[in-house]
Amino acid sequence: MPSVNDIRSTFLSYFERNGHTVVPSSPLVPRNDPTLMFTNSGMVQFKNCFTGVEKRDYVRATTAQKCVRAGGKHNDLDNVGYTARHHTFFEMLGNFSFGDYFKDDAIPFAWELITGEYGIPKDKLYTTVYHTDDEAFEIWKKVGVPEERIIRIATSDNFWQMGDTGPCGPCTEIFYDHGDHIWGGPPGSPEEDGDRFIEIWNVVFMQNEKFADGSMSELDMQSIDTGMGLERIAALLQGSHDNYDIDLMKALIEASAHATSVDPYGDKNVHHRVIADHLRSTSFLIADGVMPSNEGRGYVLRRIMRRAMRHAHLLGAKDPVMHTLVPELVRQMGDAYPELRQGQSMIEETLRLEETRFKQTLDRGLKLLDEELDGMEEGAKLPGAAAFKLYDTFGFPLDLTQDALREKGREVDTEGFDVAMAEQKAKARAAWSGSGETADSTVWFDIAEEFGATEFLGYDTEKAEGEIIAIVKDGARVEQAKAGETVQVVVNQTPFYAESGGQVGDTGVIRVDKNIAKVTDTKKVAGVFIHFAQIAEGVLQVGEPAVLVVDHQRRSAIRSHHSATHLLHEALRETLGDHVAQRGSLNAPDRLRFDFSHSKALTEAEIAKVETDVNDFIRQNTPVETRIMTPDDARAIGAQALFGEKYGDEVRVVSMGRADTGKGADKNTYSIELCGGTHVRRTGDIGLCVVTGDSASSAGVRRIEALTGQAAMAYLAEAAGRASDIAAMLKTPVGEVVDRVKALSDERKKLEQEVATLRQQIAMGGGGAGGASAKDVGGIPFLAQALEGVSGKDLRGLIDAHKNNIGSGVILLIADEDGKVAVACGVTDDLTAKVSAVDVLKAAVPAVGGKGGGGRPDMAQGGGKDFAGAQAAIEAAETLLRG
Ligand code: ALA
Repeated sequence: MPSVNDIRSTFLSYFERNGHTVVPSSPLVPRNDPTLMFTNSGMVQFKNCFTGVEKRDYVRATTAQKCVRAGGKHNDLDNVGYTARHHTFFEMLGNFSFGDYFKDDAIPFAWELITGEYGIPKDKLYTTVYHTDDEAFEIWKKVGVPEERIIRIATSDNFWQMGDTGPCGPCTEIFYDHGDHIWGGPPGSPEEDGDRFIEIWNVVFMQNEKFADGSMSELDMQSIDTGMGLERIAALLQGSHDNYDIDLMKALIEASAHATSVDPYGDKNVHHRVIADHLRSTSFLIADGVMPSNEGRGYVLRRIMRRAMRHAHLLGAKDPVMHTLVPELVRQMGDAYPELRQGQSMIEETLRLEETRFKQTLDRGLKLLDEELDGMEEGAKLPGAAAFKLYDTFGFPLDLTQDALREKGREVDTEGFDVAMAEQKAKARAAWSGSGETADSTVWFDIAEEFGATEFLGYDTEKAEGEIIAIVKDGARVEQAKAGETVQVVVNQTPFYAESGGQVGDTGVIRVDKNIAKVTDTKKVAGVFIHFAQIAEGVLQVGEPAVLVVDHQRRSAIRSHHSATHLLHEALRETLGDHVAQRGSLNAPDRLRFDFSHSKALTEAEIAKVETDVNDFIRQNTPVETRIMTPDDARAIGAQALFGEKYGDEVRVVSMGRADTGKGADKNTYSIELCGGTHVRRTGDIGLCVVTGDSASSAGVRRIEALTGQAAMAYLAEAAGRASDIAAMLKTPVGEVVDRVKALSDERKKLEQEVATLRQQIAMGGGGAGGASAKDVGGIPFLAQALEGVSGKDLRGLIDAHKNNIGSGVILLIADEDGKVAVACGVTDDLTAKVSAVDVLKAAVPAVGGKGGGGRPDMAQGGGKDFAGAQAAIEAAETLLRG
């Protein structure tokens, strides 16, 4: 009996042999469709290949595509577990042709695989064609299907379309007859809804495109899109009618039975089935980046998880169960879907956390539900207010309550539930209005209330489609904006990061065909992401699906700076001590800034150590990991959190770097921080980090600035450029610049010394001897000189030299250097009783514009600013000496 894994690979290798490229499954969160909550069929990733908008380097493809149908249009959640063929998660096998082969090949391919490779008896098969499609009818006849088994169907059942708009076309299906022991009739008959005839394959002839106005056109090329549910074909090939009987599902059901010690196939089988199915959808969603939350996709995930957890509870499980089943799922599906193995620990942690938390309220909620039911009349609906209390206080999603009531044959008054929900929203709004937010935020709150929070896809992708749900101009909502206008655009989902936690908002473009808006910044208010946009070309209109593309280079540079900030934070703590705590940060494309508590400037050695540590971890090139935890769990493993910051029930925790003395559950992690920002995949992506500054930010807070990646390279290149300019000027190799500068500086000191000596000699009259001589003034030898180009600080030495020369007398020197006039007077000791140098100085300085001076009887100094008065100053001194 072939296993599910065999059946999948038989399919893929059959089409590979027939010229198809095996393409990996695309993520469950569609990047290219704003209206789709989850990828729900194989063709989603090829949507634009059918219309010709996108070209790939192959024209034939085959896939095993993971699909989720829960929430949104196709919602199978309610029935899962209770029926043979409903799943929230399933795999769709498909072969595709993009303008290559068409009906003539697609039908024989399908027939040969089903009846040849898989060996399904031909007499068990029926086919259907669109009622006008004679061509397909004839081809089926040609491959050998008897005419009475080719059924023409006129309804939309045989015209497949992706959605209200997009590629579409007539289709042909293959049905399997499970035999007359099961009730049901062939397709098109009144009993067709029975379980006897089961559709196993749908082949769509993609030849049309539908538009929003309801019109339909012929596509330029004719393509093929097919879909076959792996679980159905596996059930058939394994001799069963129930998808839950296949080897893969049985392995999961048995794992659930083992974990709960409850018979897998007894009367509790339905609970195991729910658990097995939900284990698959939740694990795959988490692996694709969806996290449980109270909005959008995250809420659908939460609903599925909690539904499974209630069923585990019904099996009597005391401890969390779901995460213990993940290893079995990875064993079964990890080879076909490596992302499951890669994300295993993340999936386990997320499930464990959710189940631990939900268990805290589950018992009390179920008790409340029982009490409500006790007091209710037979057949009455559960009041909406009670369902709302279960939702609001005990975390019971509405469908969980409905699921619980289903077993008791009861329903919920959903209208009453909606009323209670609306009342709560109104209260929240009233509370918010009074919270002091600016008036113009009202528009964002209106949008938040109408559409819910924007879904952020930017952790996993930089390009995605989103539907334009609002355009705001000058604080008011408008229907459209045209070229030249500056507006704010809101979409239902976006890859653009909105400024927060120090990380700047993304920029990029929003495009609807040829209409283009440039996004200059992104911010968020009340969970609504606001794209600040300038319409560059054409018109943007509310309701249109738009392609949003983040400026990749800029975002990469921001990621790099943000991750480096985490490493820097830890390196600072290790180097300076545990008192280092974040006080603020900026993560921009061209730089990072990190403010932290520390009271003194960093020494050069400290900066060097921090820089070296950061770069060591960059070169270590280990993966950067993200987890969701409770704030308490995060703190327990040593995560750095912002002091005074309020955190929700769940926080994102970013870890990087391996260190023997590290922290974390494994005691092996270097940096762990609570952070909602975007990061590099591996530390090596940062490239390098250069610290460019350390300064005081405010009292007790230092600010360190640094550059990474390209910005760091540019900085270093500029520094190197400066060094080689200097080297060129010095005519020396760069490596010898420092020695050369030191030599020059020594030489300069020596020369200055020599210049001073020479000046002194010149002042003394040249050659050191004789020169200027004293004359007798009133019986006292008086030597006076006006010296140009001599510095004031040389005067004292000159006076001493003159004293030595003349032995006895009064010396007056007036020097001028660049307009600064210095005056000094010296009196030899034998004369100080008669004449004071201070008096002589005071007599002289007014003539050079000075205001006195001071000193002792043997030496006094002063200044002035008018060297032209030097001769008058000397004469004033002589007058004084003459008495
Ligand atoms: N896209 C087609 C389907 O989902 C094949 O049935």
